[in-house]
Amino acid sequence: MHSLRPASGTCEQCHWPTKFVGERLKVRTHFADDEQNTELKTALMVKVGGREGGSSHGIHWHVDPNNTVRYLADRSRETIYEVELTDKTTGETKLYKTEEAAPAGLEWRTMDCIDCHNRPAHNFRSPEYEVDLALSEGRIDRTLPYIRREGVRILNESESAYDSHDAAREGIAAATKAFYAANYPDLAESEAVAQAGKALGDAYSWNIFPHMRVTWNLYPNHIGHQDSPGCFRCHDNKHKTADGDKIGKKCSTCHNLVVEEESDSKLLQELGLQEPPPEPVAAEAAPAGEAPATGTTN
Ligand code: HEC
Ligand code: HEC
Ligand code: HEC
Ligand code: HEC
Repeated sequence: MHSLRPASGTCEQCHWPTKFVGERLKVRTHFADDEQNTELKTALMVKVGGREGGSSHGIHWHVDPNNTVRYLADRSRETIYEVELTDKTTGETKLYKTEEAAPAGLEWRTMDCIDCHNRPAHNFRSPEYEVDLALSEGRIDRTLPYIRREGVRILNESESAYDSHDAAREGIAAATKAFYAANYPDLAESEAVAQAGKALGDAYSWNIFPHMRVTWNLYPNHIGHQDSPGCFRCHDNKHKTADGDKIGKKCSTCHNLVVEEESDSKLLQELGLQEPPPEPVAAEAAPAGEAPATGTTN
């Protein structure tokens, strides 16, 4: 990371820093930890912005050639102590500082594309992200009781439990089956449980590399603020100028939330974002009412 060429010599071969993108609708699908793995939708208008009519606004304002944003951070760039903004048209600068003083010896870095797009490829995902994606793509059968909660648990517990992908696949498949054997014995031998075990093993193998000590969330994505501080490394109301100006955290600076974690709402169906809930297919093996009493205790 520290020896990469500046983004002006790479990304800008193909992308213009001033291109006007405007607002983009992003729809994110998550699932709840309940027995039904309830599907939850979030839709947000992200204000990517760019340059329009001679001035920039929105998120790509940071890379307008008229602005320079520099920051002082630790080596991982996760903790940002000071931020300096220069308006090149007027030469004015502003310095935002946190209360915590920066340790000696840190270097200033000029912000460019990869301070936000730090994972344009080789994205490492979280257990939650992988399980949500597998459920929404149908690689995991969403009618399996508690599979969202259990899948995330099993992946989290897998972190340092195995020393190879093969061992992890075997262990993860066994852990998946063990949950159903203990709580929904009629499902334990089903194809759906075997497939879920396989999909969880895939998620492990795509993200965890025991020999390289790559583990969950070692390389967080800085777009957003969900799995790591991301934008909130600076936009936390704690970076202030001497006059009290803050790098703000107001939600609508960056996006408008159209719907947040909703399920089966009329609005979602009108927007065409969610279909009516699917009919349970695994139910033949264990009708809801007949689940063993232990089913809800885990
Ligand atoms: C050789 C040309 C090239 C270079 C260099 C390049 N990109 Fe791209 N990038 C593309 C193309 C082509 C697309 C796809 C555009 C599309 O689908 O509309 C793209 C798409 C993207 C997207 C949108 C992905 C999405 O999910 O919609 C992002 C973000 C992005 N690039 C960031 C970067 C960053 C950051 C760098 C520098 C580290 C970079 N790119 C370097 C060609 C390039
Ligand atoms: C302050 C953080 C930040 C910086 C700096 C930044 N971007 Fe982005 N960019 C974003 C966010 C946030 C999005 C919206 C992506 C999303 O919500 O999934 C985005 C979207 C994009 C897209 C997709 C646009 C589309 O059509 O949907 C491209 C391409 C892109 N950025 C390229 C770049 C390049 C090239 C640079 C450097 C010149 C850059 N970005 C600098 C945060 C940033
Ligand atoms: C290194 C510090 C830093 C990081 C990281 C950062 N920003 Fe900023 N951002 C600033 C500063 C400084 C300003 C100008 C002060 C202000 O408007 O609060 C700003 C302003 C903005 C603005 C207002 C621009 C305008 O129209 O005037 C948006 C939108 C924004 N940031 C979005 C983001 C998003 C989204 C991310 C994460 C993908 C992000 N920022 C990450 C420092 C940062
Ligand atoms: C500095 C910019 C910025 C601010 C301020 C900000 N967000 Fe975000 N937020 C983002 C970006 C960028 C994303 C990623 C969008 C995407 O998923 O492509 C995001 C994503 C989200 C998501 C969707 C996560 C998901 O995957 O489902 C929610 C919910 C959210 N923000 C809520 C909030 C709330 C509530 C606030 C106000 C307290 C807030 N945000 C303030 C930039 C910001």
